[in-house]
Amino acid sequence: MANNKVTDSIIYVGVNDRKIDLFEGQYNVPNGISYNSYLIKDEKTVVMDTVDKNAGGEWLKNLKEALNGEKPDYLVVSHLEPDHSYNIEKLCELFPEMKIVGNAKTFAFLPQFFNIENLNERQVLVKDGDSLNIGKHILNFVMAPMVHWPEVMFTYESTEKVLFSADAFGKFGDLKTDEPWLEEARRYYINIVGKYGIQVQAVLKKANTLDIKIICPLHGPILTEKLEYYLNKYDIWSSYKPEEKGTLIAYASIYGNTEMVSKKLASLLEQTGEKVVLKDLARCDIHEAISDAFKFDKLILASPTYNAGIFTPMEQFLNSLKEKNFQNRKVGIIENGTWAPLSGKAMTQILSQMKDITIADTQVTIKTRMNTENETQLENLINEMIK
Ligand code: FEO
Repeated sequence: MANNKVTDSIIYVGVNDRKIDLFEGQYNVPNGISYNSYLIKDEKTVVMDTVDKNAGGEWLKNLKEALNGEKPDYLVVSHLEPDHSYNIEKLCELFPEMKIVGNAKTFAFLPQFFNIENLNERQVLVKDGDSLNIGKHILNFVMAPMVHWPEVMFTYESTEKVLFSADAFGKFGDLKTDEPWLEEARRYYINIVGKYGIQVQAVLKKANTLDIKIICPLHGPILTEKLEYYLNKYDIWSSYKPEEKGTLIAYASIYGNTEMVSKKLASLLEQTGEKVVLKDLARCDIHEAISDAFKFDKLILASPTYNAGIFTPMEQFLNSLKEKNFQNRKVGIIENGTWAPLSGKAMTQILSQMKDITIADTQVTIKTRMNTENETQLENLINEMIK
C-alpha cells in the first residue's frame, strides 16, 4: 500500500493503536489494533468510517492530508461501535455540509451516541441493495446485521470491486505487525462475532454474488490476494465446522493433580499422531482457548470439583463456549474430586445445552491423584475420541 493508497482513488487514513490495554474492554492485544478508515476521492468525496477515541488526532491529520484542502461530501457509517464511530460528531462539526450515510438502525442509534446538528437534513438513509453514485465510483450498500451489531452494513464499490466489510475479515494486531492473518483473525471472529453464525452465513451468501478484488475491513490488513481463502475461513467459522483435525485439552487445576493428568493425556494422545494443544484455563489467554476449541474437531475438558460443581476457570470457559454457540464437536470429560467428584456431571449439564455435542462414554474420574486404573481410563478415552 504505497503512500497509503489502496487504489488511485481510495486512500487509507486509519490509525495503529499500540497503547490500548484491552480491546473492547476485555481482549488482550499484544500487538495492538488498527482502526481502519478510508477516503474515496471522486466527483464526490467520501469518508468511510471514523476511528476510536484514542486515535482521533492522528486520524484527523491523516484525513486532512488525504483531503488536501477538499471537503468531504459524505461520511459512510458502516458500524456505530465507538472504535469506529467515536469521531463522527467532531467530523460533522468540522464539515457542516457533509451528509451522513447510514441505514434505519444507524439513525435510530446515532442520537444515543452523539448530538449532531440538523441530523434530519444531513442523513442519507439507505437500505439493502441501494446505491450511491459518486462519479466514476458507485457505492452499493449491503446490510450485514449482527456482523457485529444490528446496524452494520458493508459497502461494495462496484467500479474498482472493493468490499468495505466493517468488522468482518478484521484481526487483532496493528498494521505494523508481521504475522499471518489466521490465528488473530480467528480469535477476533470467534470471540466477537462467533455467536452470530447464521447472520454471517446470510451476508456471505450476498458477498458470494459480488466480484470482489479487494477487501477493506475496519481492523487489520487490507486483503488483496487469494480472497477465497478468507471467505472460506469465514464460511467454516460461521457454520461451526471444525477447521482442523486435532484436540484441545483444556484444564483447570487447583493443586496440580488435574494438570498432571492433562499432561499425561496430552503425551499419550500425541503418541497416536494426534495434533494436541494443551491450555491451562486459569493462566492462558482465555479467548485464545475459546478460539482453539472452535479450531479443532475434538475437545477434552479436565476440571476438579469445586463447591459441588465445576472449578471456576472451567465453568467460565464452558459458559463462554455456550454463549458463542459452540457446537458440532466431540468432547471428552475428566473430573477430579477427593470426596464427591461432581464436576463431570456439572460439565455434562452445560454441554447438554449446546447443539450436536457428542460426549465420549468414557468419563475419567480422578480421586485426588491419578492411579493405574485412571491410566487405563485415559487410554480408553483416547481410543474413543480418535476412533
Ligand atoms: Fe470494530 Fe464491532 O467494532
